[in-house]
Amino acid sequence: MNRKISEKIRYVGVNDHHKVIFEGMWPLPFGVTYNSYLVVDDKIALIDTAEADFSKEFLSNIRSEIGDRKIDWLVVNHMEPDHSSLMKEIRETYPDIQIVTNAKAVPMINGYYGITDNIRIVKEGDTLDLGGATLRFHMAPMVHWPETMVTYLVEEATLFSGDAFGTFGAVDGEITDSGASLCGWLDKSADCFSEFRDEMTRYYSNIVGKYGQMVQAALKKLSGLEIKRICSTHGPVWEKHVPDVVAYYDRLSRYGAERGVCIAYSTMYGNTAKAAKALAAELSARGVKNVLHNLCTENVSYAYRDVFKYDTIAIGAPTYNNDIFPPAYNFMYGICARLVKDRRFFAFGSYTWAGASVKKLNEMAEGQGFSLVSDGISFPQGYTSAKCDMAAIAELMSR
Ligand code: FEO
Repeated sequence: MNRKISEKIRYVGVNDHHKVIFEGMWPLPFGVTYNSYLVVDDKIALIDTAEADFSKEFLSNIRSEIGDRKIDWLVVNHMEPDHSSLMKEIRETYPDIQIVTNAKAVPMINGYYGITDNIRIVKEGDTLDLGGATLRFHMAPMVHWPETMVTYLVEEATLFSGDAFGTFGAVDGEITDSGASLCGWLDKSADCFSEFRDEMTRYYSNIVGKYGQMVQAALKKLSGLEIKRICSTHGPVWEKHVPDVVAYYDRLSRYGAERGVCIAYSTMYGNTAKAAKALAAELSARGVKNVLHNLCTENVSYAYRDVFKYDTIAIGAPTYNNDIFPPAYNFMYGICARLVKDRRFFAFGSYTWAGASVKKLNEMAEGQGFSLVSDGISFPQGYTSAKCDMAAIAELMSR
């Protein structure tokens, strides 16, 4: 991989093709990158580090770019350990390095790594002169941790954005979006943004999703900056597709969605599953885009992605303990926790002697401000098309 993004910017991050589950929850079918960058001038700044397992490769990447030169500053945009956990190794390798970060990161640096000295605290708009290259710092709190900030290389209109504009997926080929491709996946004739968009949606919905309002505040703050290049901590470096990714993040953080139905169901003996599949078939017959997710067998990561992608949510849950069957309850809880808004909603599910799941799902949906497509379909015992008029529901959803 060519690590030279520009004369002054070098990519020293790593691809992780080994981790199966990110943060203990989210699958990585295409891997992930931990991006880190050097800004090289009279002085050198390293922006963020990488995940702990990649110490040797990370340090080797740095050496291949700057040889025996010392690094003067480690800029910490974000303290989550996938980007900060090689901080101690960096300090051991470059003992004079000064950490540059904001006040909210300081106790985290101590708490995670026991480091308390040689830290420079920066505030909104502060700058660091590397001898021609100027780094300027902008706070972006709660995107998606409180200490989050971004760093702007003034002379190259380049934004080191932390997790913002990031995506799951290891990057094959080049690191910039002119030559990057997602782990050998999808249609190679697709452009880089199209190729990564679903994994970006999944990353955003799984990890950042709750903080749409804060992302909006950060986008507003950054809207006055000329941005020619975005160097995120995950995924390709965006150059050609800067307008696309900024517009897409704006849409995601406004909870904007395209027409379509995310059908997510849970099932104990297959009856609610049959109802879900009947709804999918009726929607398809009417040309309404729909996706089916089995919450009992799939990781919910993909269903969250599609909740952020489509404007209608249909959740199927049997009644269990006079309540919502737990896989569906957990999923609905996650939707509410992510503060998803502006969606149409439909609940369905079977029961044996008393139905409760549909009523309770509707209550959660109304609490979220969703508009109910109908009162839902709560049906006794086995599925039949007579008990579940999914054609009527699909008709309502097609409008
Ligand atoms: Fe990629 Fe919030 O860490």
